Amino acid sequence: MSLQVKILFLFFLSIHLSESTDPTYYSCNGNSNTTQKSRNINYLLTELVSNTIQNGFISTSYGTGSDQIYGLAQCRGDVSKNDCSICIKDAAESARKLCPNQVEVKIWYDYCFLRYDTLKFFGQVDTSGLYLYNVQNVTDADVFNKKLGSLIDQIDSEAIKSANEGLGKGKSKISEFLTLYALVQCTRDLSSLSCAQCLAIAIENFSGICNDKKGCRVLYGSCYVRYELYPFYFPLDSNEILDRSFEKYKSVVAFEP
Ligand SMILES: *[C@@H]1O[C@H](CO)[C@@H](O)[C@H](O)[C@H]1NC(C)=O
Ligand SMILES: *[C@@H]1O[C@H](CO)[C@@H](O)[C@H](O)[C@H]1NC(C)=O
Ligand SMILES: *[C@@H]1O[C@H](CO)[C@@H](O)[C@H](O)[C@H]1NC(C)=O
Repeated sequence: MSLQVKILFLFFLSIHLSESTDPTYYSCNGNSNTTQKSRNINYLLTELVSNTIQNGFISTSYGTGSDQIYGLAQCRGDVSKNDCSICIKDAAESARKLCPNQVEVKIWYDYCFLRYDTLKFFGQVDTSGLYLYNVQNVTDADVFNKKLGSLIDQIDSEAIKSANEGLGKGKSKISEFLTLYALVQCTRDLSSLSCAQCLAIAIENFSGICNDKKGCRVLYGSCYVRYELYPFYFPLDSNEILDRSFEKYKSVVAFEP
C-alpha cells in the first residue's frame, strides 16, 4: 500500500469509528496485564461481530489458560438482523475505544448487549447496569400500575418459556387513547429459573425508581425490561414516526449487590 492510500484508509477508518453510536451505558474493570489477553479480546470481538447475527445470540471464548477471554453478545429479540449487526459492530468498537486496556467489559445499547471477561460468567445472574426513566408521571397512577403489573406478569411468563428464548413482549389498553407497551428479555445463557430471578430483581426495583413514570427501562447484565406509552418494539404497532426528542429520561446506576 502506498503511503497515500494508507492515510486515506486510516482517514476513512477514523470517520467510520467516530460515526459509531455511543452506548447507553458501559462499564470497564480489570486491567489487562498481558498482551496476549488484548490479542484474544480482538479475536473474540471479531467472532462476536460476525456470528451474533445468525441467532441474535452467542456465548463463546477465545484463547487458553489464564489469557482465555469469555464473551457474550445478544441482540434484543425483536430487532432485525440488520439492526442487530450494526449494534454489535458499534458495541465492539466502543468496547475497544472506551475500555482499551480492560478485560472485564460490558456495553449496553437499547438493541444489543456485549460483554467479555476473564471469568466464565455464563449462566450467572448479573443485575448491575442502568435504569432509565421518563421524568414525566402518569396521570392516573392506580389504573396504570394495575395494568402495568399484569402486563409485566404476562410477558415475564412468556420470557421464561424456553421456546421464546428469553423474550416476552406485549401491550395493554389503558384507556381509549392510551396503550401501554412492554418488553422483557433475558440473556440466553440463563436458565428459566435464573431468568425469572433477574426479571424479578429488575421489577422489584421498579417501585423505587420507575414509580408512576410514563416510561422506564432496566439494562442489566443479564436481563432487559422496558415499558412505554408508545410503540417501541418491532414490528412497530403504528407506522407513524413520532418525534420523541422532547421526552426526557434520567438514569440511575445499578451496582451488583
Ligand atoms: C494477571 O492478572 C491475573 C488476574 O488478576 C493474575 O491471576 C495473573 O497472575 C496476572 N498475570 C501477570 C503476568 O501478572
Ligand atoms: C413526578 O412525581 C414525583 C413524586 O410525586 C415528583 O417528585 C416529580 O416532581 C414529578 N415529576 C414531574 C415531571 O411532575
Ligand atoms: C435492586 O434490588 C436489589 C435487590 O432487591 C438491591 O440490592 C439493589 O440495590 C437494587 N438496585 C437499585 C438501583 O435500586
